[in-house]
Amino acid sequence: RSYRIASIPGDGIGTEVTAEATNVLGRAAEVYGFDLRWSEFDWSCERYAETGRMMPEDGIDQLAVFDGILLGAVGFPGVPDHVSLWGLLLPVRRAFAQYVNLRPVRLLPGTASALAGRSADELEMVIVRENSEGEYSELGGRHNRGQPGEFVLQESVFTRVGVERIIRYAFDLARTRTGRVCSATKSNGLVHSMPFWDEIFAEIAAEYPDIHSEQMHVDALAARMVQQPDRLDVVVGSNLFGDILSDLAAAVTGGLGMAPSGNINPPGQHPSMFEAVHGSAPDIAGKGIANPVAQVLAGAMMLEHLGEPEAARAVRCAVEKVLADGAVATPDLGGSSTTADLGAAVTAEL
Ligand code: NAI
Ligand code: MG
Repeated sequence: RSYRIASIPGDGIGTEVTAEATNVLGRAAEVYGFDLRWSEFDWSCERYAETGRMMPEDGIDQLAVFDGILLGAVGFPGVPDHVSLWGLLLPVRRAFAQYVNLRPVRLLPGTASALAGRSADELEMVIVRENSEGEYSELGGRHNRGQPGEFVLQESVFTRVGVERIIRYAFDLARTRTGRVCSATKSNGLVHSMPFWDEIFAEIAAEYPDIHSEQMHVDALAARMVQQPDRLDVVVGSNLFGDILSDLAAAVTGGLGMAPSGNINPPGQHPSMFEAVHGSAPDIAGKGIANPVAQVLAGAMMLEHLGEPEAARAVRCAVEKVLADGAVATPDLGGSSTTADLGAAVTAEL
């Protein structure tokens, strides 16, 4: 078995954690008997500062031939965030129809979690975020600028195809897990989009009588995520709700340095892209102290998606053993080890 992987380390700590993830995945490939053929791309905000483009004009065509994409993080002081978003992340997500943003969350040992003391089994869930439409839309505008009657309109777009496919994905995923789906809604406040979302959720729930389904207003759901996380497993939400809930879920399980994500094209017609949830962290970039765990776990998600679930599980287990042991820990985990130390410890454990 052989897979072609595009690596886009990006900026700041993106490059540092991607180097470690690449080593760990290389070791996993060795142990489990497959090949990872890497190609590295220097697409980044730093490149933008030099050339005026995040990626070449034919960047999407270049990526299309790969089996998977591992992205570090993009963002560089002086380059506005919308440049990296609209110049790289969104074009990739849209061109490759990566309409699922998947964020598995698990309480990891050795973390300064708000839920410290609870067991990992209690906090093991996955946020399924709609990644292509919804509230993140360019429709709308600003009116009566500078006048007393100034106002803005920001429209959302929810298509039947878009809502059905994300909800169906959540139910299919629930079948491989504990068989529970909770949908984030707010149909009391958002009177067009959310009743539509709820209606489609109910239609699809009826197709999955074996799955326990419920819906909650997103505010109450946020509270439950903190107070009774054991009552949640698969959580499905729109682009905005999913974005907020997944950062909350990451925070309660140990923070940004530990949270991976996947931008998935479920039919597999196009490459999917895996990345840590965190950004390029200019405040600690270049110091070699970033926690590589999020990016290593993003790599494990990629292995799973490529069809190497045993290697993926081994990577996750190696991470958990190293964290539980606690001898090698980066400063965010209360230790004084480097990015490379922690990466090497995981590789050695594998
Ligand atoms: P950030 O995630 O880069 O950093 C937030 C805080 O968490 C910082 O104090 C940072 O030091 C810490 N942190 C993040 N990852 C860490 C790790 N692996 N180990 C230890 N500490 C870690 O978010 P911020 O500061 O809002 O954004 C910085 C840049 O990153 C911006 O340019 C932003 O646009 C970009 N960004 C890019 C993303 C992407 O490429 N998908 C996602 C989020 C932000
Ligand atoms: Mg976010």
